[in-house]
Amino acid sequence: MKALVTGGAGFIGSHLVDYLVKQGFEVIVVDDLSMGKIDNIENIDIVKLYVEDVRNQDFMRGLLLRERFDYIYYLAAVASVADSIERPEETHEINHNAVLKMLEFIRCSNLSIKKFLFTSSAAVYGNLSELPKREDSRVDPLSPYAIDKYATERYVLTYGELYGLPTVCVRFFNVYGPRQNPSSPYSGVLSILTNCLKRDEQFTLYGDGKQTRDFVYVEDVIQALWLISEKETSHEVFNVANGLELSLQTIMTTYERITGCKLKVSCTGGRVGEVTRSVANISKLADLGYKTHWPLERGLTQYWEGG
Ligand code: UD1
Repeated sequence: MKALVTGGAGFIGSHLVDYLVKQGFEVIVVDDLSMGKIDNIENIDIVKLYVEDVRNQDFMRGLLLRERFDYIYYLAAVASVADSIERPEETHEINHNAVLKMLEFIRCSNLSIKKFLFTSSAAVYGNLSELPKREDSRVDPLSPYAIDKYATERYVLTYGELYGLPTVCVRFFNVYGPRQNPSSPYSGVLSILTNCLKRDEQFTLYGDGKQTRDFVYVEDVIQALWLISEKETSHEVFNVANGLELSLQTIMTTYERITGCKLKVSCTGGRVGEVTRSVANISKLADLGYKTHWPLERGLTQYWEGG
């Protein structure tokens, strides 16, 4: 079996690559290393890595024709809401146009694939009050990032239905774990918290800490991606989360207890466009056999010790 992982040197992508290699897949990664790192890939000696931009159509088309992938996992993206607000047009080129062009090329070239999995985000749900979010809950994309993710989802699913491509989309909630880069202003809060605790640096808390999120450990995310790609799934969307709503304040206290370190906190106003509460209904994923193996305390402990 041969798999393409775009964004495969990034945080989630590299964990997926490791897993696929262990399953005996031949894995090819396309990553421009704008956020990813070569060191993230454990088996770099057997993984073929192309340092390329997914917008490079000549390259991408040549690769698809040459390699004839069984599975395509599309993770390459401008991965942050705030980043997309800084550069909406470029985000659109990367997060939307590049995916659409790949789908169109697959269609026109009659390439046969077993599954095309596109990674979307809980950001598509926006700030509507209905909780927990089900895959059929109303969406309200509020940023260039969320708009592109939602529009691309629709294309991915509609291409699947219209042209018989086995396409699926996943909506990641707040994924955390080793290799999440803490150094960007757009980094996930748990990588920033880990960094602050390890270096005894000040953590800036946006808002009152009562905002809630559904944090899911990266190993559980990989389990979900594997189930979704292996089971009979097609033209549908899956939430990928833990299914538990926790406040940021609870996360901070739990992490302090686990590490035995005291967090230095400075408070500032909430972020613009911030989602107040977020939690997923994960019953669709559970129907595929998904079980969370990494409750928060276990995930945080592992992240602290190994990440
Ligand atoms: C996350 C995802 C985003 C996704 C969205 C879906 C990350 C990095 N971002 O955004 O890609 O589209 O979920 O809902 O995973 N915070 C602080 N101090 C900090 C950093 C963050 O207080 O230094 C707070 C934020 O204001 C927020 C919470 O922590 O309330 C989580 O922030 P963050 O990890 O950036 O994730 P989301 O904003 O939920």
